[in-house]
Amino acid sequence: MIRRFRAGWAKATGKLGRFYCRHKYLEDVLQLLPYGSTALDYILRKAACRYELLDQLNDAEESLDRLSSIDESIINAVRSMMHPLTLEQRITCYRLVLLGATHSESLILETALDLLNTNSVTPQCGPPAVDVAVSRDCKKVEFTLAQGVLTVTDASLMWDCNCRDPYPAEYERVPCPIHSQPLGESVTRAFNAGLVRITYDGVSVFWRQKKDLWPPSVDAFHMVRHLADDEYATVPARTVCDLGCGTGFLGLWACDKNASHKHVTFADWLLSPLLFTHVNFSRFPKMSAFTPHYMLGLHDNWVNDTRGRSPRPFDVVLCNPPYLPVIPGFESLLYDSTVAGTDLLEYVLEHAGTLGRTVYVNFSSVAEKEVNAVLRRTGHSLRRVGEAEIVPFRVSHAFDKRGYTQALAEDGRVMFRPDSVHPYWHSVSTYQIMTERHAEQPARTYARSRAKSAGADSQGYLYRTHNPTFRPSLR
Ligand SMILES: C[S@@+](CC[C@H](N)C(=O)[O-])C[C@H]1O[C@@H](n2cnc3c(N)ncnc32)[C@H](O)[C@@H]1O
Repeated sequence: MIRRFRAGWAKATGKLGRFYCRHKYLEDVLQLLPYGSTALDYILRKAACRYELLDQLNDAEESLDRLSSIDESIINAVRSMMHPLTLEQRITCYRLVLLGATHSESLILETALDLLNTNSVTPQCGPPAVDVAVSRDCKKVEFTLAQGVLTVTDASLMWDCNCRDPYPAEYERVPCPIHSQPLGESVTRAFNAGLVRITYDGVSVFWRQKKDLWPPSVDAFHMVRHLADDEYATVPARTVCDLGCGTGFLGLWACDKNASHKHVTFADWLLSPLLFTHVNFSRFPKMSAFTPHYMLGLHDNWVNDTRGRSPRPFDVVLCNPPYLPVIPGFESLLYDSTVAGTDLLEYVLEHAGTLGRTVYVNFSSVAEKEVNAVLRRTGHSLRRVGEAEIVPFRVSHAFDKRGYTQALAEDGRVMFRPDSVHPYWHSVSTYQIMTERHAEQPARTYARSRAKSAGADSQGYLYRTHNPTFRPSLR
């Protein structure tokens, strides 16, 4: 009711504002007012901008192009300045770049974020060019498009193509699970250029191939499967945060499975993920049961963190951060995708105590050294949720950096399996971060501890301060 009234009010004032802006003589008329002409001028202009922005944001695909150019400036500028800077300097730099980039695109950031948060936008996008359905064990992936269905059985990834994998010359490439099939090229075209709908465990999200928008992939699917097996549905939690939300898959999955969730915060450092998450949330069948918040900022330093929208600690935080380490000589990796670097992962490990009461994070063996450094520094530990998953390391922007994957292999961070469908593999696991908060009070699941899982001690810990080397098994 309130929402409808607000939307109606915004529409009416927006139309009035637009009329005012189009008819210049009204400015002179306004000047005749004895008081308040400046304030009224400001209000009418702001209402007009809001109205136009609303129109633009409602076309999700078109706004994605506009937001992507802002996102690209953020990725390039922030990441190029990242390493010599302290966290505070990085946050300041992020905010400045964001201001500059939105200003040059004539986007009023505050209004855009407000429109998302007040649910005033109803972003529309066309039908998907391809529908991707992933089975619960991730072993079967079905691509449905107008021409028919392509099925990958015994899949190891959502997009199991190995055509760009860096096989050393002496090894023969195993036939590509996608391109060895008649529909391979059509599926590739649709997957790369069109709107894609991805469904896993009853949750669907829309996604489009973009440097700044990452789709849910096997990492996210294994993460939620392990959480479900760990009885996530019974964790009592009113507030949940999907930190680094991408398409919003994790947050939507959490709301779908856990009936105690009421407030869901989707956060990312880029605009396109927030827009697409909004698109996906608006199509979520159970949406009316939740209050969504869309927060923009580096880590959890949100630029629109006003009016106590997302008070921390959250009851639950879910984070599937980028985990590609920046190794010397390959620093440019940071500019090629939103998924590079370990800064968000390190931040979450370090600040888990203030972020949430229960914080789950997913990462790969490739980030082992960076993770160990933070755990040693903070004394935090990790409880593995479920088994480690050995999955192909097939990250195209990592492959584009000649020698990067080989350097990871030499460092023992990925392993080489020449006779399999992909040459490089790594281990990906989900963990609950254990902080001082949990020291007194054992975690909910200790009794049914995951001690069975390889390498865990009797309480299910994989890492303890007295055992300073956490090693995800790469076997
Ligand atoms: C691997 S993707 C995961 C997306 C989604 N959560 C999923 O599981 O499908 C990581 C996401 O974190 C976001 N991200 C990267 N660095 C970030 C930072 N410093 N602060 C906030 N978000 C960040 C990226 O834009 C991206 O959307």
